[in-house]
Amino acid sequence: MTTRHIKEVDMTKIVSLAKRRGFVFPSSEIYGGIGSTWDYGPLGVELKRAVKEAWWRSMVYDRDDIVGLDSAIIQSPEVWIASGHAEGFTDPLVECPTCHKRYREDHLLEALGQPATATDIDLKCPDDGAQLSAPRLFNLMFETHVGPVQDTANKVWLRPETAQGIFINFDNVIVATRKKVPFGIAQIGKSFRNEITPGNFIFRTREFEQMEMEFFVKPGEEDEWYDYWIKTRFQWFLDLGVRAENLRTRPHDESELAHYAKGATDVEYLFPWGWSELEGIASRTDFDLSRHEEHSGKKLQYFDQEENEHYWPYVIEPALGADRAALAILVDAYDEESVGPEGGKEDIRVLLRFHPDIAPVQVAVLPLSRNDKLVPKAKEVHDTLRRLFRTQYDDAQSIGRRYRRQDEIGTPLCVTVDFETVETDDSVTIRNRDTMTQIRVPIADLADQVREQLRGMGSTRV
Ligand code: GAP
Repeated sequence: MTTRHIKEVDMTKIVSLAKRRGFVFPSSEIYGGIGSTWDYGPLGVELKRAVKEAWWRSMVYDRDDIVGLDSAIIQSPEVWIASGHAEGFTDPLVECPTCHKRYREDHLLEALGQPATATDIDLKCPDDGAQLSAPRLFNLMFETHVGPVQDTANKVWLRPETAQGIFINFDNVIVATRKKVPFGIAQIGKSFRNEITPGNFIFRTREFEQMEMEFFVKPGEEDEWYDYWIKTRFQWFLDLGVRAENLRTRPHDESELAHYAKGATDVEYLFPWGWSELEGIASRTDFDLSRHEEHSGKKLQYFDQEENEHYWPYVIEPALGADRAALAILVDAYDEESVGPEGGKEDIRVLLRFHPDIAPVQVAVLPLSRNDKLVPKAKEVHDTLRRLFRTQYDDAQSIGRRYRRQDEIGTPLCVTVDFETVETDDSVTIRNRDTMTQIRVPIADLADQVREQLRGMGSTRV
């Protein structure tokens, strides 16, 4: 059989597959939906968990110099005053006086090929051409109140980044773990931003998960560590099978740098709408620790015993959205190939070429048909494999359709139980998603064979 790749990634195909197969659903759909808000279905939750697990493993389990943390979403409002978010976490909002649509001024300028900070350009509404209002700064933090009475005394914000939860626990972690600089604190959790223009599916939403790590270094060593983390984070995506040609790094120029940053570089991904930020790596100086010390009165300097001196460590921060990473991985894995004409019509196989450590289902177990002899045997095989891998048992519809369904959800291997299995050889076939080749193996060797094949497809975790 000859195959021909006809990959053409367009977002409508991705969004439709995501809904059809249970990756991502529009949120509150039965009530007409709530714009740009998404729920993860049975496969999406596995995909996102696998992404987070891969990140946590590379940051925390595989290293001696990083520990984990899970801080609160609602923190003292003082945190956001000290960090500068209360005053400065804003986007420039422009509004159309006719249709009342709102836009981010910097996004409109970028679309015109102008610097995001340009001030001398008359912007028109992309919808009706009317002159847009002058920009006003809009704070992205969601406000709420703690306790039953709503007044300014009990106003709080939902955290817009997980990073500050790490800075305010810097001393707690040092005391509890006796970690020595250089070391890092990693955290995964929800963040909230009242984005003016959310969109592009799960790329930019108002509620999302971040995976952030603050790496504390001796002042003067920050440039070396900044380079190290840019390279390390770039490699992480390659190790998860993201194609090199769809990834690049982009250093920020001076005008883009946040007030606290000495340098920042984005890892960008070539999404269907163009190159966009996937992850940011920032050199944050000692801004956060010194500000929290100043505002809280609590000493947050590190005592370097070797040098016999106190200092605020400098910070290098790789910060990645779990949803955005899952989207890049989903888009990158999407493929279509023509597997030749069938019944006079071109036959297209849609598949997700997920890396085996990320695939929501790593092995599917399929009886050839829903037969009284095959089903119990297939369930027995499934029970063995489910302890070792992410698995699925499926006996609905024809075997051909089930293979196609597993291809479409990105399952690397399918194990099929047929009549020979139960009548003659106690063996099963393993079908490979990418090559569609099948090998026959004794059930006694199945777990080892599955492990070997997944490793052959790039797994380092099975
Ligand atoms: N602590 C630094 C920080 O939060 P950021 O560049 O604003 O930096 C880091 O966010 C990462 O979080 C981004 O690179 C992106 O992957 C993700 N992210 C930010 N805003 C997001 C949003 N509205 N929706 C989804 N992901 C988002």
